Amino acid sequence: MNGLAVAGVVTVVPAARLRGRLRMPGDKSITHRALLLAAMTSGSSRIADASDGLDPRSTADCLRALGVDIERHPDADGQADWTVRSSGALDWRAPKDALDCGNSGTTLRLLAGALAGLRLEAVLDGDASLRGRPMGRLMEPLRAMGASVGTLSRDTLPPLRISGRRPLRSIDYTLAVPSAQVKSAILLAALAAEGTTTVRETVATRDHTERMLRARGVAVASTADGSDGQMAISLEGGQMMRAIDQRVPGDISAAAFWLVAGAAHPDAELTLVGVGVNPTRRMVIDLLRRMGAQIAERPLPVDGEEPAADLTVRSSSLEAIDIGPAEVAAAIDEIPVLCLAAACARGTSRIRGAGELRHKESDRLAGIAAGLHALGAAIALDGDDLVIDGGAGRPGFGLHGGEVLSHDDHRLAMTFAVAGLLAGGATTLNGATSAAVSYPSFFRDLERARA
Ligand code: S3P
Repeated sequence: MNGLAVAGVVTVVPAARLRGRLRMPGDKSITHRALLLAAMTSGSSRIADASDGLDPRSTADCLRALGVDIERHPDADGQADWTVRSSGALDWRAPKDALDCGNSGTTLRLLAGALAGLRLEAVLDGDASLRGRPMGRLMEPLRAMGASVGTLSRDTLPPLRISGRRPLRSIDYTLAVPSAQVKSAILLAALAAEGTTTVRETVATRDHTERMLRARGVAVASTADGSDGQMAISLEGGQMMRAIDQRVPGDISAAAFWLVAGAAHPDAELTLVGVGVNPTRRMVIDLLRRMGAQIAERPLPVDGEEPAADLTVRSSSLEAIDIGPAEVAAAIDEIPVLCLAAACARGTSRIRGAGELRHKESDRLAGIAAGLHALGAAIALDGDDLVIDGGAGRPGFGLHGGEVLSHDDHRLAMTFAVAGLLAGGATTLNGATSAAVSYPSFFRDLERARA
């Protein structure tokens, strides 16, 4: 297998040992936001060490179609530096064609928030996966703010047509489903609203948008709203952003694959360099430690608004875990690989209230259960819960290899590839190219780690 030119079908053979230092790709969530905020702001912004994944590239392409000048400078390491020159969102032009958000829900939902406060019309579309993802949760608050938002399809599925309005009305809105994308869309729309908009969330979701708005001069108040993790985020409309340069930390959702690989493999020591450890993103570290994973964290000097650390993971004896709905929401993108960790842990794990995983790039509940089952894991769906019996734990974990489908979902593809490193036999992965959505150098890193 050649990790540099990943084919759609890849065979991963078990690793005798895992060693090395891997630099993680730039954080996908932060890269989307850095591109979008820069495009909304008058001036020139440089975004360093960012993601070169297909998803952020979709964001850049959409912004270019709106008239923003964006240069991408990929490096040999799978990252990109980006330069964005804009005269601000008020100068965006109505796109001639539908904006193609590709596979990226973050592109579609955040851009919809920015467009809601502009007097132009745009259609937001994407690939077959994105066309199956629910947009009602986004349409409701943007409509309440005064934007006209409809779909060109059945129900509340993309393509989405938006006719913005300026000024918008401010709202006080409680998210029905924990979603950083919807929260962020409302906050971006709130910049164009009269008065103060408040978003309330029952579980604190990733707060990159809030941090990045503050770094650009916008006052955003985040306050505890109740005793159990609820948050209220408020922003007064009419505030201006200033252009800044930003360095993007490594993606903890990418690091999660190596944390599980290193903890579960019997002969492993992996260091993941420069990983973002924002408190609203680091749940996967805390959950793996709760399972017994040996993860050492060396904080790096603070550079910007996001904390980062080098993480070293060593072979560990993993124990089963019970993960509740609030923890699922906080580790939403890491649940597939945490299922693999549970398959390698002693005892029976339960991941409760994971229904939201049905609405990601694929139905991840069905996909992870089918894929890990095909590789030999004892995993079952019980309503919205996943139940995984790791048996007696090591050695072998009962994973024997086999053939699996990624369903063109990057996180399933990478989870099954890591399973292939841990299994007793070869794993044939169909749909491996999807890893490039968030982690273009994943298969090269996989080869480095086993070398
Ligand atoms: C993201 C938020 C999450 C996450 C996605 C990225 C973001 O989605 O699953 O990969 O960058 O805001 P939801 O907002 O739908 O939970």
